[in-house]
Amino acid sequence: MNSPTIDISPDAQSLMKAAAEHVVEQASLAIKARKRFTIALAGGSTPKSLYRLLASPEYRTCLEWENIKFFWGDERHVTPNHDESNYRMAYEAMLLPLAIPEHHIHRIHGELPKAEEAAEQYEKVLRTAFKCTGSQIPQFDLILLGMGTDGHTASLFPGTDAVHESTRWVAAPWVEKFQTFRITITPVLLSQARQTTFLIAGREKSEVLHDVLEGPFQPDFLPSQVIKPTTGHLAWFLDREAAHDLSPRLSP
Ligand code: 6PG
Repeated sequence: MNSPTIDISPDAQSLMKAAAEHVVEQASLAIKARKRFTIALAGGSTPKSLYRLLASPEYRTCLEWENIKFFWGDERHVTPNHDESNYRMAYEAMLLPLAIPEHHIHRIHGELPKAEEAAEQYEKVLRTAFKCTGSQIPQFDLILLGMGTDGHTASLFPGTDAVHESTRWVAAPWVEKFQTFRITITPVLLSQARQTTFLIAGREKSEVLHDVLEGPFQPDFLPSQVIKPTTGHLAWFLDREAAHDLSPRLSP
């Protein structure tokens, strides 16, 4: 694995611009090489501004949207029109304003009664979309990730088995702190992407980010540490606030 890169922007607004440029660059590389760009979107609140920016007049003409396939890194166990739905957040911020055709949108069906069923179904969706045969594993061009203040990423939460999943592509862990199931891609897929990129903003993330990047390796407590691309590249896009506790070596 080549060494991860850390990109620190002065503030949240410039962080989103830097992230938008990064997505544009990754998309053009992928489309030039393979005539399509597969992206797994992050949920939560941080990426919403990025999705809105990509759909804005400033960036919407920079991407060949007709060659982009959209996936999700995780989803809540809710319907697609639920306030908590990661699909709904991205749909409203980007996919609807850009009129992305439905057949380019591969959401996780969090509305299914059993989260486990949604995980199994998503594995089938991925197998088809990436035309995987035999032991082949889907390789996303870009996986976008956020990180919680507890060090979780996607829906890999501290103390859950999904953090150490080494066979399944998608899991449906019970998350005690939220008393709910989640559906999430696992380290099996996360380690395969050509580009894996964390997007983290705000002072409330600075302590855990320091622990993840500069503390001892303890993925059961800090699941974001488990993200180690085998052949791809890992990047951390941060604002100055989130980078506040990093040593000068990482945050000059
Ligand atoms: C989710 C996300 C999750 C998110 C972090 C950070 O479903 O919530 O996938 O991993 O990225 O919780 O969330 P914020 O960006 O809201 O801080």
